[in-house]
Amino acid sequence: MTEQMNILGIESSCDDTAAAVVRGTAGGSAEVLSSIVVGQTELHAAFGGVVPEIAARAHAEKLDVSVVQALAEAELTLEDIDAIAVTAGPGLIGGVVSGVMLAKGISTARSLPLYGVNHLAGHALTPRLTDNVTFPYLMLLVSGGHCQFLIAHDAMTFERLGGTIDDAPGEAFDKVARLIGLVQPGGPSIERAALAGDEKRFALPRPLLDRPDCDMSFSGLKTAALRARDSVVAEKGGLSAQDQSDLAAGFQAAVAQVLAVKSKRALQIYLEIGPSVPTLCVAGGVASNMTIRSALETVCHEVDAAFVAPPLRLCTDNAAMIAFAALAQMPVREADDMTLSAKPRMPLDTRSQPMLGSGKKGAKA
Ligand code: KG4
Ligand code: ZN
Repeated sequence: MTEQMNILGIESSCDDTAAAVVRGTAGGSAEVLSSIVVGQTELHAAFGGVVPEIAARAHAEKLDVSVVQALAEAELTLEDIDAIAVTAGPGLIGGVVSGVMLAKGISTARSLPLYGVNHLAGHALTPRLTDNVTFPYLMLLVSGGHCQFLIAHDAMTFERLGGTIDDAPGEAFDKVARLIGLVQPGGPSIERAALAGDEKRFALPRPLLDRPDCDMSFSGLKTAALRARDSVVAEKGGLSAQDQSDLAAGFQAAVAQVLAVKSKRALQIYLEIGPSVPTLCVAGGVASNMTIRSALETVCHEVDAAFVAPPLRLCTDNAAMIAFAALAQMPVREADDMTLSAKPRMPLDTRSQPMLGSGKKGAKA
């Protein structure tokens, strides 16, 4: 019988300070014993985006408390922990450094193996934790900071089929919400407003659908929404609630269609490798949008692939996914030592072209 281990996970790459304990076997199944996520939304609210220095300071203040809480909720002490897993990148460097330093400290003090984990591998392996999805599966990461298609071949091998060349979709939802006077975070506000909207009133573009690849762009869509808003404001002097709803519905429909069409292309490429259980998995805050979710479900149905969306608390940033990723990778990698460094950029698929530029949540992966 393979030995059960308790892994302490630490995540601090963006604006959530997280610690978790996951129990399971190396390369096998696992359960989440505790998962603490301390958000920073109110600290950044006045600045219209995540301020890296504020985020780093808040992580440094909250990391140890989060670890103590995660252990208490799991009803364990550090004595019961078998290894430490920590996000080593990609992300806002001050935050990643805070987590890596804490992990190194605990690892040294308790003589525990240390595993630096790629944050994106954490997201990409979550469907194995929640639904035991069979490799190879197709993964769509859609959040405020990430947007890419990956084929997960095994716990260490991820093939990037494409992604955004500018903004992540969540970033675009947040910016458009701000433009049309809706509260942050923009995704849920736009989804709510869109319920009463006419998605056809404003003809917004579907960027890059003319290109046969899996790359996406959301920045032009945001500019088109700005122009549509300006034309209404120029005509009427302001936006009515109906105008807001129609703009929200038009924008959401455009994002959903782009993601659906590009998912279909990614699925075609993925299906060519002959997966035994064809599956599209999603992760990230944007995947909670019902219009987007049902558009993706329809695409999966058309090509006979299963659709898996882990529960939101494990889809958005958390430390359980980091602990689980270390557990999943243990049979095929070594532990790290004290030379482990925090990295702002850390592509999962090292053979693919690096993404250019930075989003509001740090360097793109
Ligand atoms: O994965 P997440 O919680 O955090 C990171 O980006 O790391 O994603 C947050 C993003 C925000 O941009 C938010 O506006 C977006 O996900 N979001 C949504 C919805 N809920 C959250 N976007 C569209 N529809 C939603 N219902
Ligand atoms: Zn993330």
